[in-house]
Amino acid sequence: MASRKLLLLPGDGIGPEAMAEVRKLIAAMNERLGAGFETEEGLVGGCAYDAHGQAISEEDMAKAMAADAVLFGAVGGPKWDAVPYEARPEAGLLRLRKDMELFANLRPAICYPALAQSSSLKPEVVEGLDILIIRELTGGVYFGEPKTITDLGNGQKRAIDTQVYDTFEIERIAGVAFELARTRRNKVCSMEKRNVMKSGVLWNEVVTATHKAKYPDVELSHMLADAGGMQLVRWPKQFDVIVTDNLFGDMLSDVAAMLTGSLGMLPSASLGAPDAKTGARKALYEPVHGSAPDIAGKGIANPIAMIASFAMCLRYSFGLVAEADRLEKAIAAVLDDGLRTRDILSDGMTEVGTGAMGDAIVEKFLALSA
Ligand code: NAD
Ligand code: IPM
Ligand code: MN
Repeated sequence: MASRKLLLLPGDGIGPEAMAEVRKLIAAMNERLGAGFETEEGLVGGCAYDAHGQAISEEDMAKAMAADAVLFGAVGGPKWDAVPYEARPEAGLLRLRKDMELFANLRPAICYPALAQSSSLKPEVVEGLDILIIRELTGGVYFGEPKTITDLGNGQKRAIDTQVYDTFEIERIAGVAFELARTRRNKVCSMEKRNVMKSGVLWNEVVTATHKAKYPDVELSHMLADAGGMQLVRWPKQFDVIVTDNLFGDMLSDVAAMLTGSLGMLPSASLGAPDAKTGARKALYEPVHGSAPDIAGKGIANPIAMIASFAMCLRYSFGLVAEADRLEKAIAAVLDDGLRTRDILSDGMTEVGTGAMGDAIVEKFLALSA
């Protein structure tokens, strides 16, 4: 059996609480299904700053580079509000994405049938929703230079962030979107703001050219990103795959999260390019939500985004497609049984804590695997 080396980076706040539930799944898969996962643990975010004065140590970066896949919890929190910008908890996540060249962030927003009532939108708007936001993750305003605050000396300061995209960065993320669309409903909507941003003009031009040259069979549409946000809330089922830049993707995926009932439901996969010889790709799996300081330590966080991120890991890093399908089915079945963490609770359902939700999913998963 091929090696299956996982690095677990639980992070801060509810990160470790959600990761504990994935650890249960890994142990169950090893003991009961002989999955052969080898795990290592590391620190990222505020906890790494407290231990090393950096949001991720060189040693843990090296472990991430050597792992077959990294599982990431969440980082950040008010405790670290005053730390230097370069060492803030979020810098650890940004360094992992950049140094591992994880340019493609897949954020699927699926409304499980049992949760159609939990969304703040009408059930008919979200029932059966299954869309995929593809967010460019290593470029744009997150990493563009200059990125500075300068004292102008007249009592004023000037802050600069720079949005930069080169052709190859847009081409490769568009390629991921078109390829994945072919495995789904064959539709891509590209979102940018070409009406005010030069990077939007180039984005639109390169996506259009990539489509024409290599993917003419896929249906392509374009939308200005602000209107895209509105359409996501108005009638989200019009979309299949959405491809967009780093910042718009960040914002639009939080919007999409609420279509599924809660930010605690949205998983993601951050993928690098496949190796030309082996086809293996660097990958990090991270829920879309953050460290949720308002509920951390209370045992009430929803672990489903983290568990569904592990399902994406099974599918994309290890080719364990049947197991990934089964894990997603187990999540749906537990929701059908009426179990709910507080964020997705509705009338007549049974409230459970993080650990009980994780236990129920592990049990269903093993029952489906028998
Ligand atoms: P957040 O995602 O942490 O929380 C937003 C709201 O959603 C909160 O009310 C929270 O309780 C709720 N929520 C989030 N995940 C939940 C879950 N699994 N179960 C139940 N409820 C959940 O966003 P925020 O409050 O804006 O940010 C808090 C910190 O997290 C900040 O430091 C931010 O930078 C960081 N953050 C980190 C990541 C990451 O590590 N990937 C992502 C987003 C934000
Ligand atoms: C996300 C988060 C991160 C981002 C932060 C924590 C750096 O909001 O993954 O959605 O902005 O990319
Ligand atoms: Mn975000």
